[in-house]
Amino acid sequence: MNTAQRYEFFAAHEARGHSECYEQWSREIACDEEILALIEQLPEDKRQPNLVLGAARYLGAEPSSFADFKAWLIRHWASVAATATARRTQTNEAGRAAVLLPALARIPGPLALIEVGASAGLCLYPDRYSYRYDERVAIDPADGISGVILDCITSGNPPLPTELPNVVSRSGVDLNPLDVENADDMRWLESLIWPEQQHRRERLRAAVAIARTDPPRLVTGDLLDTIADLVAEVPSGITPVVFGSAVLAYLDPDSRLAFEKTIRDLPCHWIANEGVGVIDSVAARLPHSPNPTRGSFALSLDGAPLAYVGPHGQSLDWIAGE
Ligand SMILES: C[S@@+](CC[C@H](N)C(=O)[O-])C[C@H]1O[C@@H](n2cnc3c(N)ncnc32)[C@H](O)[C@@H]1O
Repeated sequence: MNTAQRYEFFAAHEARGHSECYEQWSREIACDEEILALIEQLPEDKRQPNLVLGAARYLGAEPSSFADFKAWLIRHWASVAATATARRTQTNEAGRAAVLLPALARIPGPLALIEVGASAGLCLYPDRYSYRYDERVAIDPADGISGVILDCITSGNPPLPTELPNVVSRSGVDLNPLDVENADDMRWLESLIWPEQQHRRERLRAAVAIARTDPPRLVTGDLLDTIADLVAEVPSGITPVVFGSAVLAYLDPDSRLAFEKTIRDLPCHWIANEGVGVIDSVAARLPHSPNPTRGSFALSLDGAPLAYVGPHGQSLDWIAGE
């Protein structure tokens, strides 16, 4: 896809229905030679809509007509380009804990959670959030309702736990870990949330407040190079659980296969929450989706598919039986 097609695709298939502002801006960018020429000054892997528009928002671009945004973008292009070059798309979505929870509940604890591609590590706190499945089933931490309440709609009778997992350690790896104590890093995470999604911004702030009370241990590096050491650090008697969410799509197919082989040889469980089709061996075992319009991610445990899930943890269509 060339740059114009990328922005057109983003408008039609990603922003549409979720952000009127981003849909309009990206659709107009796709036809605007002047803005396309600016974006094409960036390296190929820095031209994606989420990164460029996130950089603009980080620098103060407010939702507006495309004409006003275009004028703003041209005025601030040097700063936008510098931010897009220095930063990555690292959207950290605590909501994904709602779909990880039923997979974690299948693993005997106590658990040492290890996240690959952790961003700021906000998915490492499944025991500190509250859950509302279909506005019917409520699961809360032992000390009461959390500041983060995750709503998730389900089908297929997922086996939901009555208690949250016993998590004794939280670690992870990222090419560029973000620090929950660093206000600038957290402002970048907020900028990656689309303009109209105020509920996600509030959820992010509440999850950051929880993580600040007990920050995760995140190492800088490539997941392939570091995962064996992270698993080896877990003391005996604790179950190591490696999980990744919206990360393997960033790897080339050979690296994805190498990661899968590495993880299967390690003494740990492996939960993957990735776009359908990202892990070939999981995709090959998936039945048809019961709700194709909402579950664009596949949740698996040790390579076995469990559910189709919403990309931000908003839906869980269970396919694995009890
Ligand atoms: C879209 S974010 C997802 C963050 C988090 N897992 C979540 O679900 O909210 C993907 C993260 O993976 C990281 N990442 C991408 N490739 C990686 C690699 N080879 N090794 C480690 N981290 C990687 C990125 O830096 C980014 O922080």
